[in-house]
Amino acid sequence: MIAVTCTAPVNIAVIKYWGKRDEKLILPINSSLSGTLNQNDMKTTTTVVASPDFDRDRIWLNGREEDIQSERIQRVLDEIRKRAGDRKEASKEKLSTYKVHIVTVNNFPTAAGLASSASGYCCLVYTLAQVFQVSGDISTIARVGSGSACRSIYGGWVAWDMGNEIDGSDSRARQVADEHHWKEMRVLVLVVNDKKKETSSTAGMQNSVETSKLIQERVKIVPGRMAQMEKSIADRDYETFGQLTMRDSDDFHAVCADTQPPIFYMNETSKRVVDIVKRYNRTCGKTSAAYTFDAGPNPVIYLLEEHVSPLLSILTHFFPSDEKNYVRNVPDVENVLKRE
Ligand code: DP6
Repeated sequence: MIAVTCTAPVNIAVIKYWGKRDEKLILPINSSLSGTLNQNDMKTTTTVVASPDFDRDRIWLNGREEDIQSERIQRVLDEIRKRAGDRKEASKEKLSTYKVHIVTVNNFPTAAGLASSASGYCCLVYTLAQVFQVSGDISTIARVGSGSACRSIYGGWVAWDMGNEIDGSDSRARQVADEHHWKEMRVLVLVVNDKKKETSSTAGMQNSVETSKLIQERVKIVPGRMAQMEKSIADRDYETFGQLTMRDSDDFHAVCADTQPPIFYMNETSKRVVDIVKRYNRTCGKTSAAYTFDAGPNPVIYLLEEHVSPLLSILTHFFPSDEKNYVRNVPDVENVLKRE
């Protein structure tokens, strides 16, 4: 019997992934880029036990048994076993026939647009890779679980290059800069609603691809924006970084609104946070905080350390406690995968 426990962090995109060109292989229509958060506050913990005595694979998520036959989980298990089986030694071949029991827990709201599938699938793939002794790039395996999960494989700043190959072999994550590169960067995760979102990212992006005209325009803009974003990170140029981050989030939500039926992930509280960030930047006379929203109403704010305390005081002042469940100050965009 083999047992391995790992943890994996969430990542928050500053250039969003939205839309697939291949639903099965999870190949995107545009590249994306994110910061991987440290694991103090938001992480998934997964234990995989593999044994020749188990009669079938099983999985429990946050204490409840889930359907192991889910297409995505099966794709991940198949890929892992294929790569484990690829290795020649007789003992490894036998390993790939072991059945697994998987127990996975998130310490933050699941499916509330807080990148739980990213840390979830990243953690699942990383832990399985330890059990089945899979080496090499595992971001392509995480990708077939959930697209954004491939970026959580690395710490710091991570691009997911969309790739061109039809088999998806070049659609993988790439570390742009490590977690020590921009030491002053902080991330605030404001949870305004921790309920499960009404439109999942998967369904939402599929509808956008089918019905939105604007998404075609966005696809043309993203390559240039990716290049600018990578440069702003390399140069630690917060002004450019912040402007691009907010612009890309706005464009992504405009695509959602242009989808039929329209998707509105942001709520009134989200819009008030946008307004506060804009006013804060005006008061500072430069871009000092940048909001971004995934497929949910919860604002994530990238900002430099010196702005954390003033902005948090303003946010705390404006939001009555029933509206703002909690504010998490993730103190670093910092690595990442750690075996426990
Ligand atoms: C808005 O990775 O959850 O968070 O590949 O269908 O599992 P699937 O979608 P998912 O989509 C994430 C979308 C996003 C933007 C991003 O993280 O880049």
